[in-house]
Amino acid sequence: MFFKYLVLFFLFISFSISAKSKAPVRAKKGMVVSASEIASNVGVDILKKGGNAVDAAVATAFALAVTYPQAGNIGGGGFMVIHLKDGTNTTIDFREKAPQSAFRDMFLDEDGNFDIRKSTEGWTSSGVPGSVAGMLFALKKYGTMSRKEVMQPALKLASGGFPITYRFAKALNYYKAEFVKHESTKKIFTKENKLFYEGELLIQKDLAKTLSLIIKNGSDGFYKGEVANLISKQSKENGGLISVEDLANYSHAERTPIFGTYRGNKIVSMGPPSSGGIALMEALNSLENFKFEQNSWGSSEYIHTVSEVLKYVYADRAEHLGDEDFYPVPKKWLISKERGKEIATLVGKNAVPSNKISHANPPKKESEETTHYSVVDYKGNAVSVTTTLNSTFGNKIVVEGAGFLLNNEMDDFSAKPGTANQFGLLGGEANSIEPNKRMLSAMTPTIVLNSNNKPYIVVGAPGGSTIITTVMQIILNVIDFDMDIQEAINRPRFHHQWKPEQIDYEHLGMTDDVKKNLISKGHFIGRERTLGRAEGIIIDYKNNIIWGASDPRGYGKAVGY
Ligand code: GLY
Repeated sequence: MFFKYLVLFFLFISFSISAKSKAPVRAKKGMVVSASEIASNVGVDILKKGGNAVDAAVATAFALAVTYPQAGNIGGGGFMVIHLKDGTNTTIDFREKAPQSAFRDMFLDEDGNFDIRKSTEGWTSSGVPGSVAGMLFALKKYGTMSRKEVMQPALKLASGGFPITYRFAKALNYYKAEFVKHESTKKIFTKENKLFYEGELLIQKDLAKTLSLIIKNGSDGFYKGEVANLISKQSKENGGLISVEDLANYSHAERTPIFGTYRGNKIVSMGPPSSGGIALMEALNSLENFKFEQNSWGSSEYIHTVSEVLKYVYADRAEHLGDEDFYPVPKKWLISKERGKEIATLVGKNAVPSNKISHANPPKKESEETTHYSVVDYKGNAVSVTTTLNSTFGNKIVVEGAGFLLNNEMDDFSAKPGTANQFGLLGGEANSIEPNKRMLSAMTPTIVLNSNNKPYIVVGAPGGSTIITTVMQIILNVIDFDMDIQEAINRPRFHHQWKPEQIDYEHLGMTDDVKKNLISKGHFIGRERTLGRAEGIIIDYKNNIIWGASDPRGYGKAVGY
């Protein structure tokens, strides 16, 4: 009898262990989680040398520009959310800007129809890059190390090369047909009559030269002189709009974060020109009105409730979100508990058709390929960065002689208000093209603080329009469903963005029963696809452990010490 119970006990234990994801990576002092193991190691080495989380974040960013050119970049832009141990919370906006000569209808054809090739391919698709300005500003204001110290590892990786992984080799080979269209890209990212293989070195001499100029001259090494001349000359020769003046005049911005609370935790996230922080807060404020039982995860009731909330959130996003320097975003109202509650009261037993949902208006009196990395240091600083070239490898154009890929971020504008971009996202006047304006983003680099105001969760993800729902579901998985960070990231996700009217889902994320129940409530089941690739950290103060997790959907790595 005793033996029988013992066997049952061990069966139970082995089942509960095997049903869970592998444990997250554990560390005591600091952690960097990024899409590239080499870049995570670069960041951790900086922490070990005494650098703070911002030093490590900047070093990781430049390393990613070498080892993860799918999205790591100096030719693109992004957002950094910072929490400092003294309680300071801030964000740095280094989003690309439209060139001075950009104009509202630049991506329409002769018949007035949106031509998506113009906004995603060729030189017209690029916004003025912001990454170098943003990173160097962060380093100067919040870091402790010199440019040389944090950029040297990236320079070494570019000039001496690094061994490419199996997945990276596959990515390069997959895009070969597009790379060969541009001589400058072909010579770096393809091989004559051969494919890349795992373990061989990728050397990027021209990129090394550009990085040296930035180390020597700071921002001027990129925005003025040789590199700026190469960008503007090639842009002009190929019908692009970026001029030397656009580069010289580029400015990053330091902005107040979007703040909110969710079940007693404080959320610190990115505000406009990202829609991420506002949409995340609007959704969480609404979901706070529901109680999710532990075993409701993945049920049709749970997916229905969250999807209904998301429809209103994405409808508001399409109407009200854009670059705040150009358009009065009704921020306070969108992230208010009242708006959250109002949405919650609209969630009924059945789905409301998307065409019956339109954005609400504030009360009159109130005014796909991207990459994320998360960093914490032992001092109590935390940094959450999402950066992008927009599409995978941006517009696939390397600046000849400068060795880096350019973004195709102009596609994130609403080229024709009411017409969807490459992520199927709709936008309105708030996000129309104007000179020097920043295009709307969905990037959601986020730091969740605990009730003692200390960093608890640091998280973000790539994934275009699905970034917001990815970050939201990871936060729900941790806070509502008590998962560790690896489990919270691994679990299959779903996505609803109001239009198109469908719930997309991941492999094994929805049983046939769940689908049937959702359909009976009036939902449409969309595509099975991968949704986001998150990189996250949780800090457990009770046991003094930093837990890190890289998304198994990608091939990144959490590295701690
Ligand atoms: N390019 C994707 C985003 O900014 O949301």
